[in-house]
Amino acid sequence: GAPVEVDISKLEDGQMVRVEWRGKPVWVVRRSKAVLDQLNGHDGQLRDPSSEEPQQPEYAQNSYRSVKPEIFIAVGICTHLGCSPTYLPDTFSEQVSGISAGFFCPCHGSKFDMAGRVFAGVPAPLNLVVPPHQFLDDNTIIVG
Ligand code: FES
Repeated sequence: GAPVEVDISKLEDGQMVRVEWRGKPVWVVRRSKAVLDQLNGHDGQLRDPSSEEPQQPEYAQNSYRSVKPEIFIAVGICTHLGCSPTYLPDTFSEQVSGISAGFFCPCHGSKFDMAGRVFAGVPAPLNLVVPPHQFLDDNTIIVG
């Protein structure tokens, strides 16, 4: 499939833009400072907090799983059986207390944090996949 260009110039904190790449949904989310700060406090609750499973490009092998901390890009497909998780920008704390934003898969209840890292004790075995991508400039991303 052809690479997809994404314009993030109008993306505000907490917002997500969805694009399609190779027939798959890809999410681009702008994470606020508060959300980024929350990524550091719950490693013990995660199945693979350092993303040791080879699921992402080298440039995303860091605690944010992204090139730029504020921009998170992931394939929006649950690593359990392929449903599309729901983005909960404000109400994720109903799923995991103390964490305001995350992704919840309605099919069998898998939960992912705002870096797409899967919580322990849910059916999904792996973190969400980070697709290959690059920044053309501050506001333009090429996925693929
Ligand atoms: Fe997401 Fe099963 S497909 S939890």
